[in-house]
Amino acid sequence: MRRIPLHPLVDYWGRPGPLEWSAVFGRSAPLVVEIGFGRGEHLVRWAQASLDRNVVGIEVAWASIQRALRRIRQAGVTNVRILYANAEWALYYLWPRASVERIVSLFPDPWPKARHVHHRLFSRRFFLRAHRVLQEGGTLLLATDDPGFVEWSLAECPTPGFEARVETYRGELRFGTKYEMKWYQVGRTFFVVEFRKTDPLDVPEPEWPPTMRIYQFTEPFDPSRWQGPDQWSDGDVVVVFKEFVWDPARRVGLWKTVIREDTIVQNVWIEVRWVGDRWRLLPSDGCKFLPTYGLQKALDVLAESLKGREFGSLADG
Ligand SMILES: C[S@@+](CC[C@H](N)C(=O)[O-])C[C@H]1O[C@@H](n2cnc3c(N)ncnc32)[C@H](O)[C@@H]1O
Repeated sequence: MRRIPLHPLVDYWGRPGPLEWSAVFGRSAPLVVEIGFGRGEHLVRWAQASLDRNVVGIEVAWASIQRALRRIRQAGVTNVRILYANAEWALYYLWPRASVERIVSLFPDPWPKARHVHHRLFSRRFFLRAHRVLQEGGTLLLATDDPGFVEWSLAECPTPGFEARVETYRGELRFGTKYEMKWYQVGRTFFVVEFRKTDPLDVPEPEWPPTMRIYQFTEPFDPSRWQGPDQWSDGDVVVVFKEFVWDPARRVGLWKTVIREDTIVQNVWIEVRWVGDRWRLLPSDGCKFLPTYGLQKALDVLAESLKGREFGSLADG
C-alpha cells in the first residue's frame, strides 16, 4: 500500500469554535474555498494560479480526498488545505464571519428526485451560511449542467442578500473537472451562476457548547449487566446508542453511538472506564469527535442512566 501525505489535511476534531486559518496555513492571506472538489483537478490548478491566496477544499468522500492529496503532492503546491467534512456544516462552524473571499461549487450533485431535495447544496439555509462567512462583495459560484438546479437555487437564494448573474457556455471546458468533461462529451449546455454578497442579512452565529461536561461516579456498577438507553431525540438532534462492548480485563466499556444533528452525523465511541477509585464517562480517547450539543446530550443521557456527576470538561479534565 502506498503512503499518502496527510499534512494538507486539516485536523479540526475535538475543539469547539472556528479554526485559526492563518495558523492552519502558517501565513495570513485571503481565503478561497472549493466545495466538493472530486478529483481535485480544479482545486490544484486554482491554488497554482493563486499563490497569494489560501485555498481550502472541502469534500465528504474519502476516496476523493486521497486522490486530491496525491495530486497536491505531485504538483508541489503549498497554499492548499483539505477539510474532510460536510461543506454546509464546515462553512458555518469552522470559519469566522466575513472571512472568505470566494466559494466555488463545480457540478454539485443535483439530487433530482423530490425525496432527495434535502441533500442539495444551495438551499436557503446553505445561502444564509455562505452569506455569513463571505466578505462584503464576496462571491459564491455554482457551475452545473442542470437547468432545474439553476432555477431551484435562484428561488432559494435570499434577495436582498445576494445578487445573481447567470451565464451559459457550450462546446468548451472552463474548469477541467471530471464532471465538466463528462457532460462536455455529450454536448450539454453549462450554466455558471455567480451569487455576489451585496446586502447585510441577519444570520446568527453558530453555537458550540462552551466545554464538554464529562462525568464520574463511584457507585457500584456492573457493566456486564447494564441495560443502557437505546436512543434520545428532541426532534432536531437524534442520538442512537447502538451497541455496548465491555472488556472485563481492562474494565473499559464502550458505547457505539450515532449522533445526527444539523447537517452532520457523528459515529463516536463513548467510554466508561474504571480509573483508580471511580468510573469516568467521556468520549473515547483516540476517537475523532466534534464537541457538539448532540455529543454533550449523549454524555448527559448516559450519565443520567448511570447517575454520574459532572467532574470536569475535556478542556481541563
Ligand atoms: C458530482 S461530484 C462533482 C465533483 C467535481 N467538482 C467535478 O466537477 O468533477 C460532487 C462532489 O461533491 C461532493 N459532495 C457532495 N456533497 C457534499 C458536501 N455536503 N460537502 C462536501 N462535498 C460534498 C461529492 O463527494 C462529490 O465528490
